[in-house]
Amino acid sequence: MFDRSIKIAPSILAADFANFGAECRAIEAEGADWVHVDVMDGHFVPNLTFGPAMCAALRRHIKGVMDVHLMIAPVDPYLEAFAQAGADHLTVHVEAGPHIHRTLQTIRALGKKPGVAINPGTPVEALTELLDMIDLVCVMTVNPGFGGQGFVASQLDKIARLRQMIGDRPVHVEVDGGISTSTAPLVARAGADALVAGAAVFKGGSPEHSAPYGENIRAIRAAALAGLG
Ligand code: DX5
Ligand code: ZN
Repeated sequence: MFDRSIKIAPSILAADFANFGAECRAIEAEGADWVHVDVMDGHFVPNLTFGPAMCAALRRHIKGVMDVHLMIAPVDPYLEAFAQAGADHLTVHVEAGPHIHRTLQTIRALGKKPGVAINPGTPVEALTELLDMIDLVCVMTVNPGFGGQGFVASQLDKIARLRQMIGDRPVHVEVDGGISTSTAPLVARAGADALVAGAAVFKGGSPEHSAPYGENIRAIRAAALAGLG
């Protein structure tokens, strides 16, 4: 059953890298809907994080949805490894290669939910031929590579047009970058249902003192719901 309610997906890019297991357990206990995992290659984006072995290790600490955002090019040689690592969603960038259609077919064949991410400079029309193949679109509301960047407001109109293009297809609209209690109402009103947030979820807390994670998640969710009116 397709769930269009607001979902909060903390990005562990803002977590303690030496304590990912405890961080994943803490955010789920504090109300995270999905756990967003940012894979970066230092080539497609100007930063490096981790690969499939880390995802497999994280999997043991995540009960719910593991939402893996692949910011890597080429991506095709690594899809099987990320699928075996236990990802639920595998999201690839439309800008990351010439054969996005084949990439999405491969993800589906591996039994995973395919997602497509688009950078702020990429028009939503790049998705026209892909909407029947995917489970989610990730609209980047910052240029990918780093957490804690400012929200790119020009993406709001794009989110609204994307939601119209999707129509009644069972496709989530995820937003990623600069999501806070200030921007959550705007993206929810524009049509986003999955909100990735790094800095805004992890601020003020730690695995030993995780109550702030819960307060932050509840505040972002409440702000998004207020935006829906
Ligand atoms: C950016 C990543 C995001 C990032 C979001 O390249 O894809 O998931 O962690 O971080 P915040 O919410 O801090 O902008
Ligand atoms: Zn991300």
